[in-house]
Amino acid sequence: LREEGLAKIEACADLASLQQLRVLYLGKKGPIQEVMGMMKDLSKEERPAFGQQVNEMKSLLSKAIDDRRALLEAKEMNEKLEQEKIDITLDGYQPKVATMHPLNLVQQEIEDLFIGLGYTVAEGPEVELDFYNFERANIPKDHPARDMQDTFYINAEELLRTHSTAIQMRQLEKFSPQLPIKVICPGKVYRRDDDDATHSHQFTQVEGLVVGENITMSDLKGTLEFMARKMFGEKRVIRFRPSYFQFTEPSVEVDVSCHICGGKGCGVCKGTGWIEILGAGMVHPNVLKMAGYDSSKCSGFAFGAGIERIAMLKYGIDDIRHFYTNDQRFLKTFTRFE
Ligand code: PHE
Repeated sequence: LREEGLAKIEACADLASLQQLRVLYLGKKGPIQEVMGMMKDLSKEERPAFGQQVNEMKSLLSKAIDDRRALLEAKEMNEKLEQEKIDITLDGYQPKVATMHPLNLVQQEIEDLFIGLGYTVAEGPEVELDFYNFERANIPKDHPARDMQDTFYINAEELLRTHSTAIQMRQLEKFSPQLPIKVICPGKVYRRDDDDATHSHQFTQVEGLVVGENITMSDLKGTLEFMARKMFGEKRVIRFRPSYFQFTEPSVEVDVSCHICGGKGCGVCKGTGWIEILGAGMVHPNVLKMAGYDSSKCSGFAFGAGIERIAMLKYGIDDIRHFYTNDQRFLKTFTRFE
């Protein structure tokens, strides 16, 4: 029985069958227990020697099982280590590092410089209520000024916002009647335009809004000149041309002296020395009143710029569609160094 047991344990190749042998030899029902049972048939004198022999055999087998288990466990561990071995001499894999999208780059640059002036950044929904996109901006239903912005309507009350002015109208309402307000509102906007090199049905705007006591047009001009210089170089100057927006009065179109030729006239500025970069004006009293402000006690300015246009001018990009077609060769040329 001992030799047979030892041989079986020795031949055992895995931990599960070793456990079965353990149950067999050391458990309550097995050949050893059977032999123990035979003891009652022996004489009193024979019993101690017999019992001792059986117990010795039992501990021998128990030790053999323990040894075997230690061996099998070590083997299993080694196999596992072998399988999981990593060849550290293999060449490394270089993950592709993403670059900032040029629109995000310009947007962040603008946000950063206004944050430096004490503005906060606010966003709003792209599916917007007609109420904030138009009515609060002093463009009532059926007003011809709505034609300036071909609109994607979702239903009678909702639309895809046509300008980030909608965010400003929400901010005015949120702050009212607190003063002052200084916010910068970036976001995607949508218009029913046919796409070509300079038009896109979806583009990005960033607007600024300041409301306080005695805010004047010279504050607007100083602020925009600061922005133009940060974006296009310290030598830039700006000029105002009269314009029309329903939500500002007076309204202006803002030009920056050409950053390519310095104002002498070149292809980019079509020989004029000036490039139009944004629309702006003094917040219309009706807009302030609708949001709950006393327009005799405060005033404000607002401006709105297209981020694509600024990025195209800044980086010399000739087609707005480059921003949306995700051509890696185009995108990876924009890396922000700080
Ligand atoms: N909302 C105007 C546009 O989309 C831009 C603008 C904003 C003009 C704020 C004046 C003041 O064209």
